[in-house]
Amino acid sequence: MEALLDAPQRPGPAAALEALMARGAAFLGTRYAILGGAMSWVSERHLVSALSNAGAFGVIACGAMMPDRLAEEIAATQALTDKPFGVNLITMHPQLMELVQVCLQAKVGHIVFAGGIPPAPAIRAAKDGGTKVVCFAPAMALAKKLVRSGADALVIEGSEAGGHIGPVSLTVLAQEILPVIRDVPVFVAGGIGRGEAILSYLEMGAAGVQLGTRFVCATECVAHANFKRAFIRGAARDALPTVQLDADFPVIPVRALQNQGTKRFLEHQAAVVQRYKAGELTKEAAQLDIEHFWAGALRRAVVDGDVENGSVMAGQSVGLVTQEQPAAEIIAELMAQAGAALARRSEGN
Ligand SMILES: Cc1cc2nc3c(=O)[nH]c(=O)nc-3n(C[C@H](O)[C@H](O)[C@H](O)COP(=O)(O)O)c2cc1C
Repeated sequence: MEALLDAPQRPGPAAALEALMARGAAFLGTRYAILGGAMSWVSERHLVSALSNAGAFGVIACGAMMPDRLAEEIAATQALTDKPFGVNLITMHPQLMELVQVCLQAKVGHIVFAGGIPPAPAIRAAKDGGTKVVCFAPAMALAKKLVRSGADALVIEGSEAGGHIGPVSLTVLAQEILPVIRDVPVFVAGGIGRGEAILSYLEMGAAGVQLGTRFVCATECVAHANFKRAFIRGAARDALPTVQLDADFPVIPVRALQNQGTKRFLEHQAAVVQRYKAGELTKEAAQLDIEHFWAGALRRAVVDGDVENGSVMAGQSVGLVTQEQPAAEIIAELMAQAGAALARRSEGN
């Protein structure tokens, strides 16, 4: 009996998994180092609070919200959870500094800056106000620069992700960045839909993970039923980046489910380029015309349910979304898959 008590206790898989997540979880103030990536129109009070209440870290997508509207959304989220959550701010928002102040006044613990390198004054204001700053690092040089500029943590997002994407997959970004950036926690995003993948990235040195696509079909998520149905039906190969038709007219790559809208976008580009070549449009007007094609399109799909003409932004992991489930069940499933994979490893099979 004594010998048994004296035997060194090997941590069980659940404890070992929590140990792998410890740095990320401590940074977020959560049980699990899992961020719910901010998704415009999708990540509002209900999904964000559900994720945080389930032990993960919800993030409000500010998108184009004005300061008053953001303040209202934060207060409503705080009414639904006493757990930590963050706010994602798009750096090119014309009122970025005011939005930072709104977060500080509401005592939001973490601001995630997305959509470009955040201006130094915004980082400084956030940090001076006591909020932790998380930035997206799409490449190694930028990762180093952001850490020097004061980022407290980084998210590296691979091109497998839904929404606006960079050119490099998470498989490669993780190998480039995780072994080098050790000063701050690095969270990985893009294409993650199961716990086995979460475990692998933690073992590679990630502090935690960020998922977006996998949470769209959470029961608490307010996205239109048509939007959720498109996710449940969608396969990985349906979630493709937008196609640029002409080398002279750049198109920002956005990964979304293919539909009538994505087909019409190609026709629209062809028609605009034709009018430019015929001298009917200046180059600037033609570029603007192409950019305006998708204005309001995500809202149309998420809120109005027009999944044929709207933008059904989704990552390649959409093929792993098979049903609507409560957020807590999704989180539990991911953790169980990661724990089971870890247990199999320690059993040697
Ligand atoms: C519908 C949708 C909308 C998104 N909107 C935003 C956004 O407003 N801001 C942002 O930083 N990322 C946005 N993203 C990216 C997510 O925050 C997250 O990083 C990404 O979904 C992770 O990859 P995954 O989709 O493969 O899980 C969006 C993704 C989706 C699917």
